[in-house]
Amino acid sequence: MDISRRASFCIFAALWMANAWPQETNSPDLVTRGAYLAKAADCAGCHTAPPVPGKPRPQPFAGGLPMGSPFGTIWSSNITPDSQHGIGRYSYEDFARVLREGVAPGGRHLYPAMPYPSFSKVSDDDMRALYAYFMHGVEPVAQAAPETKLPFPFNQRWVLTFWNLAFAPKEHFEADPKREAQWNRGAYLVQSLGHCGACHTPRGPAYNERGYTQSSGAYLTGGTNDHWYAPNLTGIAGAGLDRISADDIAAFLKHGHGAGLATFGSMVQVVEDSTQYLDAADLNAIASYLKSLPPGGSGGAYAPHSTAAQQTVAALRTGDNQRPGAGLFQSACARCHKSDGVGEGLKYPRLAGNPAVLSEQPDSLIRLVLQGGRPPSTQEGPEPKKMPAFADKLTDTEIARVLTFVRSAWGNNATPVTTRDVRRMRAAVSPDSGN
Ligand code: HEC
Ligand code: HEC
Ligand code: HEC
Repeated sequence: MDISRRASFCIFAALWMANAWPQETNSPDLVTRGAYLAKAADCAGCHTAPPVPGKPRPQPFAGGLPMGSPFGTIWSSNITPDSQHGIGRYSYEDFARVLREGVAPGGRHLYPAMPYPSFSKVSDDDMRALYAYFMHGVEPVAQAAPETKLPFPFNQRWVLTFWNLAFAPKEHFEADPKREAQWNRGAYLVQSLGHCGACHTPRGPAYNERGYTQSSGAYLTGGTNDHWYAPNLTGIAGAGLDRISADDIAAFLKHGHGAGLATFGSMVQVVEDSTQYLDAADLNAIASYLKSLPPGGSGGAYAPHSTAAQQTVAALRTGDNQRPGAGLFQSACARCHKSDGVGEGLKYPRLAGNPAVLSEQPDSLIRLVLQGGRPPSTQEGPEPKKMPAFADKLTDTEIARVLTFVRSAWGNNATPVTTRDVRRMRAAVSPDSGN
C-alpha cells in the first residue's frame, strides 16, 4: 500500500467510524454543544406549550404552542425522542432533511411557521450536534401535540412543494473570505440558527421572507408577525441601529436592556429563551454583523437639537392645543418615561431617539400601549419593571394622539398613528379574536 492509498484508507475508515459507531452520536461533548445550539435556534421557544396558571409547567419540546399565521393557527410538534408522538424514530438523515427542507419522513411537508428556510444554512457539524442532543439529551414525552387544521386550500400540504421551489432557498451558508472570522460567525448565527429574519424581514404576498442574506435589499428591514412589528436592524439613521453601539446591541440580547432601550413584545421571548444563553463571543459576533448592514428600508428620523425638539418642551408645559397628545403624555406616561423622554436607567426605557419608537410601522407601539408588557427576566439582567396596559384607560383616539406625540416629540420624527390603526389593533388582539 503506498502512502497516498494508505492515507485515503485511513480517512475512509475514520469517516466510516464516525457514521457507524453509535457512541459517536452520543458523546457528552456533542450533546452539550447540541444543547447550546438548540438555545441559539430557540427550538424550545416554539416547541413548548404556553404555561397555564394552576397547571404543571408544560414539558419542554413536547409541542402544542399555537402560532398565528394569515391562514389560521399552526400547532408546533412534539420533538422529544418519544418514538410514537415525537421524533424518536428519526434517522440523522430524516432530522437533517426536516430541518433544512421542511419535509418530514413519509414526505409530509411542514408549514414555514417552522423556519426551515433559515435552518437550511445550518452546518453539518452543528446539525450532528443538534441530532445528538435531541436523541440523547432530551426527555421523551409520550403526548400528542394538537393537530393543525387549516381551511382548504391551506390544508393541502403538498402545495408547499411549489412554495418551496419558488421561495425556500435551500442554500448552504457561504462564508465571505474578504470578511473577518467574527463577522462570518455573526452572519452564520443570524441567518441560520438565529432565524432573525423570520420576524425582522418583511414578507411577500405568499408569506415568504423577502431575502435570506444581506445581499437582498429587504433583508432585516423590518416585518410584522402575529401583530408585532420587528424593527429595522440595518444601519438606517433614525429607525435602524445606526446610533446603537455593538456593545449595546450585545447587552440588549444578553439582558434585554441596552442604550436605554428595553426589549418588549415578541422579542422578550427571544431574549428569555435564546439569546441570553449565548456566550460573549457569539453575541459580539451577532452585533458586529448587524452593525455592518448597509442602510435599507425606511422609517422615522431623529434630530435632537432641532427647533421641533425644543417645541416639545413648550408643548408639555402649556398643554399645546395643536398637540393634544402632550397633555396625555404628561398625565399617563411621564411618571416613568419622564417629560424629556429619556426614561430612567435600566428601569424605564427612553423614548427620545429610540429606534423602535421611530419604526416605519407603529403596530408594536400600539399593541404595547394596549396590553402593557415587561422586559425579559434574565439570569444576569435587572429585575423587570412593568409597563401598564392602557386598553381600559384610554380610548382609541387618545392612544393614537399620545403615540403620535411620542413619535414627534424631543426630535423624533415619524408618521402619525391614526385612530383607525388603534381600532384595528384592538380588534385583532382582543381576547375573543383568538390571539
Ligand atoms: C418559529 C418557531 C419554530 C422554531 C424556532 C423551531 N420550530 Fe420546529 N416546528 C415549528 C412548527 C410550527 C412545526 C409544525 C409545522 C407543521 O405542522 O407543518 C415544527 C415542526 C418541526 C419538526 C417536525 C416534527 C414532525 O415530525 O411533525 C421538527 C423535527 C422540528 N420542528 C424541529 C425543530 C428543531 C430541532 C428546532 C431548533 C433547531 C426547531 N424545530 C425550531 C416551529 C418552530
Ligand atoms: C419572534 C420574532 C422575533 C425574532 C425571531 C427576533 N426578533 Fe428581534 N425583535 C422583535 C420585535 C417584535 C422587536 C421590537 C421590540 C423591541 O425593540 O424589543 C425586536 C427588536 C429587536 C432589536 C431592537 C431593535 C430596536 O430598534 O429597538 C434587536 C437589536 C433585535 N430585535 C435583534 C434580533 C436578533 C439578533 C434576532 C435573531 C437572533 C432577533 N432579533 C430575532 C421580534 C423578533
Ligand atoms: C409605570 C411605568 C410606565 C408608564 C406609566 C408607562 N410606561 Fe411605557 N414602558 C414602561 C416599561 C417598564 C417599558 C418596557 C416594557 C417592556 O419591556 O415590555 C415601557 C416601554 C414603552 C415603550 C417601548 C420602548 C422600549 O424600547 O421598550 C413605549 C413606546 C412606551 N413604553 C410608551 C408609553 C406610553 C405612550 C405611555 C403612556 C400612555 C407609557 N409608556 C406609560 C413603563 C411605563
